[in-house]
Amino acid sequence: MKRPLIVVLNGPNLNMLGMRQPEVYGRATLDDVEQICIQAAERLDVGIDFRQTNGEGELVSWVHECRNRAQGIVINPAAYGHTSIALLDALLAVELPVIEVHISNIHRREEFRHHTYCSRAAAGVICGLGVRGYALALQAMTDMILDENDR
Ligand code: DQA
Repeated sequence: MKRPLIVVLNGPNLNMLGMRQPEVYGRATLDDVEQICIQAAERLDVGIDFRQTNGEGELVSWVHECRNRAQGIVINPAAYGHTSIALLDALLAVELPVIEVHISNIHRREEFRHHTYCSRAAAGVICGLGVRGYALALQAMTDMILDENDR
């Protein structure tokens, strides 16, 4: 069987990781996060496609691209998680398993961060565990894909 492909999508301002509010998001850069994901994918024997954009429309288009190409989506929608019904609709449209990741614990922060639209499309949400949340999400997504293939 072909190796499953998991697409890892990152939303706005995550290109600023490392310099952006390190007391909230830590010192790891987006390149470090990509390396964490590449290493996790090698260990799990899955392929990944890791991307970041500041544009809502681009993020929506990238979700569409996953249909017929990927087996799962790991997404840190960043602020668009809290605001974008378009992103939710895209995630629902592609009919793929989705895991939502937030580096910070959004429930400990301002009230407007407590709700995310994306969560309605997500099998699970990982938040507050720092950048290691990405590796955990890839592990969980791989398990879910393998479980589905066993049926
Ligand atoms: C974030 C949390 C969001 O509330 C925020 O807008 C981000 C990053 C996180 O990873 O903790 O940009 O998604």
